[in-house]
Amino acid sequence: MTTIGLAGAGTIGRGLIELIGRSPAASQLKIKTLLVRDATRSRFGVPAGVKLTTKLEELTDDPEISIVVELMGGVDAPLRVVTRALEQGKSVVSANKNLLAQHGPALFALAANHKVNLGVEASVCGGIPIIRLIGEALRADRITSLEGIVNGTTNYLLTRMSEEKTSYSQALAEAQRLGFAEPDPDYDVSGKDAVCKAGILASLAFGGYVDFRRIPTSGIENLQLEDLRQAERMGYTVKLVATARRTSHNNKLDAQVAPVLLPLTHPLASIRHENNAVLIESEGLGMTLACGKGAGPAPTSVSLLADLLDIAEGRQKLPDVNHPFLGTPFEMEAHGQSSSRYYLRFAVPDRPGTLALVAGRFADQGLSLASVLQPEGADPVPAPVAGGHPQVTLILTTHLCRRAQLDKVLGALAGEGWGNPVVLRIQED
Ligand code: NAP
Ligand code: HSE
Repeated sequence: MTTIGLAGAGTIGRGLIELIGRSPAASQLKIKTLLVRDATRSRFGVPAGVKLTTKLEELTDDPEISIVVELMGGVDAPLRVVTRALEQGKSVVSANKNLLAQHGPALFALAANHKVNLGVEASVCGGIPIIRLIGEALRADRITSLEGIVNGTTNYLLTRMSEEKTSYSQALAEAQRLGFAEPDPDYDVSGKDAVCKAGILASLAFGGYVDFRRIPTSGIENLQLEDLRQAERMGYTVKLVATARRTSHNNKLDAQVAPVLLPLTHPLASIRHENNAVLIESEGLGMTLACGKGAGPAPTSVSLLADLLDIAEGRQKLPDVNHPFLGTPFEMEAHGQSSSRYYLRFAVPDRPGTLALVAGRFADQGLSLASVLQPEGADPVPAPVAGGHPQVTLILTTHLCRRAQLDKVLGALAGEGWGNPVVLRIQED
C-alpha cells in the first residue's frame, strides 16, 4: 500500500479522490491526510478516515506518507508544500503549471538532490500524456518546433462563441461551472495559463529552462463575436495558439502566445471545446499531433493517477542533473522579427479623412494593406468623449510584414488617439 497526502480538495482534488475511489488500478493507493484552508467544513466525497488538516507538516513530515499531491492553485503556498515535501524525501505529484513554470529549475534540482520523483503530467494539457510523449517517446528525436492549443477554457469560449454565437460572459460562466477554468479565470483568458504551459513544454522539448515571463503573450479578452464572424468570412477560425521554435541561424527560442487566425485546413483548426492539441515537429518523425481533453477534473485526474501509479510502482525515472529544466536557460529571439499577415480592428472617428489618414500611416512604414472594411450597419460605437465624433469599426488586413514595423504604425495611430485595436496574426498554413 502507498500512502498519500493530498494538498487541496477543490475542483481537481475532488476529481482525484473520486477516481482513486473507483479505479481498480488505484487499489494500492490510500489517501491518509488532506490539507485544506478550512478543515471545519464538511466535505462530500472525502472517504471516512481521511484526516483534514490546515498544517502542511502533517503531510510533509509524516513518515507514513510517501507521496504528496499538490492541487492547491496559486504559487506561494504550493511552493512551501512542495519544497518541504521534497526536502523531507517525499515524491510529489502536482498539476500546478504556474508553480512549475516559475520554480521548475529549483524544484527539479531539489528532487534530484533528494532522489525523489516530481510528477507533473497533469500540469499541461489535462489528460493528454504530452509530457510523457516529449520526455519518453520523442527523446530519441530532435524537436524543432511546438505549436499548440494548450488552454481548454479559452478554446471552449472561442468554440461556443463562433459556433453558437454564445456571449463571452455566458461561455466563461459555463467553463467555470464545468471545472475547466482556473480559480481566477483571468489566468485563462489573459493567456497567462497558456504561457506557463508553453514555458514548460518548451523547456522539456528543447532541453533548457525557458522562462515563460519572457514569452510575448496576449489573451482573448478583447475579442468580440464580430472578430470571429469576420475570420469565418475570410476562411479562418480564431484560436489561442502557443508557439515555440528553435531559430535555425542562432539556436535561440522564438516563442509567443496569442490569438491567431488559422486556416480551416490547419490541424489545430478543428480542435473544439475544452480539447487541447500540440503539433510537434521533429527532425526524424516530422509532424506529430497529440490531442484530447485538456481541462476538467476527470481528464486531469487520469494524468495525476498515472503519475501516482508510476511513482508507487517504481516506473518513473528519477530526475538527475540532466533534467531539461536544469539545462542552460534559452536565449530568446528578439520579438517582432518574423513576417506575417495581420488582421486589425479599430474603432475610428466617423469623419472625412479618417481612412486616408490610416492608410497614410501604413504607407509611411512601407506596409501594404490587403483589405479594408468599414462594415455597413455595424453596431455604432459611442464617441469616446462627450461631444466627440461617433465611431465606426474599421477592419484591415495587411500583406506580409514584420510585427516590429506594424508596431510603429500602431504607435503612430495611438498618437491620433486610436489606440488599442484588436491585432491578430493571420497564419497561412
Ligand atoms: P480550487 O478549486 O480553488 O481548490 C483549491 C484547494 O486547495 C481547496 O481545497 C483549498 O482549500 C485548498 N487550498 C488552497 N490554498 C490553500 C492553502 N494556502 N492552504 C491549505 N489549503 C489550500 O482549485 P482547482 O481548480 O482544483 O485547481 C487546483 C490546481 O489544479 C491548480 O493549480 C490548477 O491550475 C490545476 N489544474 C486545473 C485544471 C482544470 O481543468 N481546472 C487542470 C489541470 C491543472 P479549501 O477547500 O478549504 O478552500
Ligand atoms: N484552466 C486550464 C485550462 C485547466 O482551461 O486549460 C487545464 O490546465
